This record gives sequence, structure tokens and C-alpha cells, in this order.
Amino acid sequence: MADSEKQRPTFERDGAGNLDQTLRPQSWDEYVGQGKIKENLRILLTAAKERGHAAEHILLYGPPGLGKTTLAHLISKTLGTNMRTTSGPAIERIGDLAAILTNLSPGDVLFIDEIHRLSKSIEEVLYPAMESGVLDIIIGKGPSARTVQLELPPFTLVAATTRISLLSSPLRSRFSGGTFRLEFYADTEIAQILKRSAELLSIHVEPSLFEQIAKRCRATPRTANYLLKRCRDLAQLENTDLSASIVEQTFDLLEIDTLGLTGPDRSLLNALINKFNGGPVGLNTMAAATGEEMSTIEDVLEPYLIRQGLLERTPRGRVASALAYDHLKEV
Ligand SMILES: Nc1ncnc2c1ncn2[C@@H]1O[C@H](COP(=O)(O)OP(=O)(O)O)[C@@H](O)[C@H]1O
Ligand SMILES: [Mg+2]
Repeated sequence: MADSEKQRPTFERDGAGNLDQTLRPQSWDEYVGQGKIKENLRILLTAAKERGHAAEHILLYGPPGLGKTTLAHLISKTLGTNMRTTSGPAIERIGDLAAILTNLSPGDVLFIDEIHRLSKSIEEVLYPAMESGVLDIIIGKGPSARTVQLELPPFTLVAATTRISLLSSPLRSRFSGGTFRLEFYADTEIAQILKRSAELLSIHVEPSLFEQIAKRCRATPRTANYLLKRCRDLAQLENTDLSASIVEQTFDLLEIDTLGLTGPDRSLLNALINKFNGGPVGLNTMAAATGEEMSTIEDVLEPYLIRQGLLERTPRGRVASALAYDHLKEV
């Protein structure tokens, strides 16, 4: 064997390559928190199942990483049917949607992620499909065009979005099963999630460190899992156990401060305070001042800043709170 071959490292999937999939809860018991949503879904899904009907359409919204996709999986699992997954931007033509809908089996779940990115013309095809279970297809063009109505198998649409405000009201009103907003997680809930993740990834961690990580993960399970993994990497490189000091060093490396804010969060607050005197300032002005996309500011950065009482959305624009001034002085 040649030397170079001997030294070639082996790469194994460590199960953490795709964290979301590896760590995705497989049962309602493993799905921590969001008690109200779980209870409502339990009633909705059980009742539908008992009646032998497809469950009504469900809309899930909230910032990234809070567990929307996971809920969709659990919904279809509970119904005992298949789930077909697609997303707003993936459905470009009416034919794409028609193909998906006509291929569903009775009772299936159709999961449309990022539903706010569905085009208007496709939305209009979705209305009758959601409401009456039919697909109106126009065949031909001009005066000879005619509409053919196809009956669809009964199905449950589960849709997810980070931006409920972008959904038209006719679309919103068709989620007769309910619209559910996912909440940020309590530290104890995150600690519980991390405990399971550590077990699944065979990472040995002192339980107190779960809380240490929970305080800095923006109250978001996906971020918590990501941080756990980064801590493990550092411990491995330093050839030590995953200790409190390793966790602190990881936060320093990733520039995560005591409130769990990262660089972009602080830049936003900095701009608001130092360039605009604390506001009020409009979203587009903030985007221009920070170089962030408006959608990133609205969907990803602001929800957590608002939750932490650092920023407020007022009718006249964004305003920094006294807490934000204090926090920036500290860090
Ligand atoms: N309630 C929860 N309990 C346990 N783990 C969760 C929960 N919500 C999310 N997670 C973890 O976070 C990951 C990201 O969740 P996901 O459902 O993909 O979020 P979203 O679709 O809202 O962006 C999941 O794979 C899972 O590991
Ligand atoms: Mg998702």
C-alpha cells in the first residue's frame, strides 16, 4: 500500500453532519415545550382520525429553528399517513402544484415550507384545492380555453412560514385547522433538548453545562444543538473534556455575548443607537445602514431582540430600549 493511501483519513458520517435530521424528535414526548400547540394538535388530529377524515389544514409560523418542520413530521406520523414535502419557491408553475396534489394518497399530509414565497397565481390554484378539494385547470388559450375540474384525494396541508405578515388574508383564512405561532423556549426546555442531543451524539457533558448553553442560544433549539456541537469540536481539539471553560471559549470564538446576541444583532442595535439616536427608524433604513437583508432583520434578528426587551417595533419604526443602551455599554 502506498504511504499516501495509508495516511488517508477515513471520513465517517458522525450523525452530526445533518444535525436537524439526526436530532429531530421522533415522538410527541421528545418534542419539548410548545404545550399549547401540542394540546390543540392532539385534539384536532385525534378527532379527525376517529372520524376517518383528513385533518384540516394547519399553518405554523415563527422564527427559524423553533420546530416547525419537526411539527409537520409529527403531524403526519400521528395521522399515520405519508408526508410530501415541498416549499414555496420550489413550486414555480401551476403544473408543479397540480402534479403534487394529484399524486397524493387519501389522508396524506402536504407540507409546504416557506409558504409566503408562493406566487399569486399558484396561491389561487391552492384556494379551491384547500377549500373544496378540487383543482381547476385551464386547458387551451384564448376563446377556446376551457376549465376542467379535477377532484383531489382528501389531504391535509401543513404550511410553515417565518413571515405570517406576507400571507394574503384569503390564504390565511383557509387554514381551518388553525394557525399556530411557535414560541421561544425556556432555558429549562432547551436544557432538556440538549440532554437528549448529547445522548444521541454520545457527547459527555455535565448537566449544568446544558443550562450554560441554554442561556446563549437565542432560546432556539437549532442554535442550542449547533452550539453543543461547536463545544464538542473545541474540546476535541484541546484534547480535554467538555467543561464550563470550553463552553465559555466557544462563546468567545463565536462572539456570542451574555444575552446570546451575535455580531449581526449587535450591529443592528449599534446602528439604531449610534446612527439614529435610538430610533424610531424604518426597516429599510436599518437594512441600508447595516447591510442586512430586510427579511433577515425581520425574521431572524428582531424577534429575539424584541423578546429580550432590547428593541421595540412601533408604528413609527424601530426603537432601542434603555436595556439595549446598557447592554452595548457592557459588551
Ligand atoms: N420542541 C423541540 N424539541 C426538541 N428538539 C427540537 C424542538 N424543536 C426543534 N428542535 C430541534 O431543532 C431542529 C430544528 O427544528 P426545525 O423543526 O427544523 O425548525 P424550523 O422548521 O422551525 O426552522 C430540529 O431538528 C430539532 O433537532
Ligand atoms: Mg423548517
